[in-house]
Amino acid sequence: MEIIILPTPEDVGRVAAALIARVVTDKPDAVLGLATGSSPLDIYRSLAARVADGSLDVSQASGFALDEYVGIPLEHPESYAAVIARDVVEPLGMDPARVRVPDGRAADLEKATREYDEAIALAGGVDIQILGIGANGHIGFNEPTSSFASRTRIKTLAPSTREANARFFDDPADVPTHCLTQGLGTILDAKRVVLVAQGSGKAAAIARAVEGPLAAMCPGSALQLHPHATIVVDEAAAAQLTLTDYYKYTYANKPEWQRFE
Ligand code: GLP
Repeated sequence: MEIIILPTPEDVGRVAAALIARVVTDKPDAVLGLATGSSPLDIYRSLAARVADGSLDVSQASGFALDEYVGIPLEHPESYAAVIARDVVEPLGMDPARVRVPDGRAADLEKATREYDEAIALAGGVDIQILGIGANGHIGFNEPTSSFASRTRIKTLAPSTREANARFFDDPADVPTHCLTQGLGTILDAKRVVLVAQGSGKAAAIARAVEGPLAAMCPGSALQLHPHATIVVDEAAAAQLTLTDYYKYTYANKPEWQRFE
């Protein structure tokens, strides 16, 4: 696991975007794992700026979203299908036909989740998975006690997650109670993972995910099992880590050929 600690939230977005841009430059038809939430917004803005200035082309890339609410209308502005279209597909100039979001409206949700994992496999697997982390340590919508072997499936949202996401809805009661999410096993299958976190509200979750024991109580700790995970955080989100000096030393001495910025 590589831990990169940077001064500001904007730096986090810029550096994570540089890593993703490197992946797409090396493989124009790369498969991107797309996250929603506030954490990756600076990544998408930074990638969109590269697309706008002509230094990056993601039109051949495809994408798979991490998760979706169950039962939310497709046209609802906070459905993840709508969020991915608005925050990612349009600004980055991705081909909408190549971007998939789990179908939280399917009559047969189990079939929809099975087909989602099959579609990821058919596409050759995710080349780089973008992730945020919830204050309770969730990644995707894999709430505490999610199995490390889990695949894409239906989950009940933790009350604290519904509260955290209420800011996006007119009425907190409108936040759906269920979701479809890629499983921790699905996420671990990605060839590369980049998790971003900003602000003191994420400091405990980051410390548990990076330095805590492997534990289903902190789904983010599953990334310790991933052979190629990069964690990019600002100083505030890094505040509860103990090996901070080592992480900074390692990044400062990263070999030139391994650098992506
Ligand atoms: C959300 C999403 C996650 C996200 C997390 C943190 O509910 N399902 O993918 O990483 O919770 O959200 P935010 O980035 O807004 O803090």
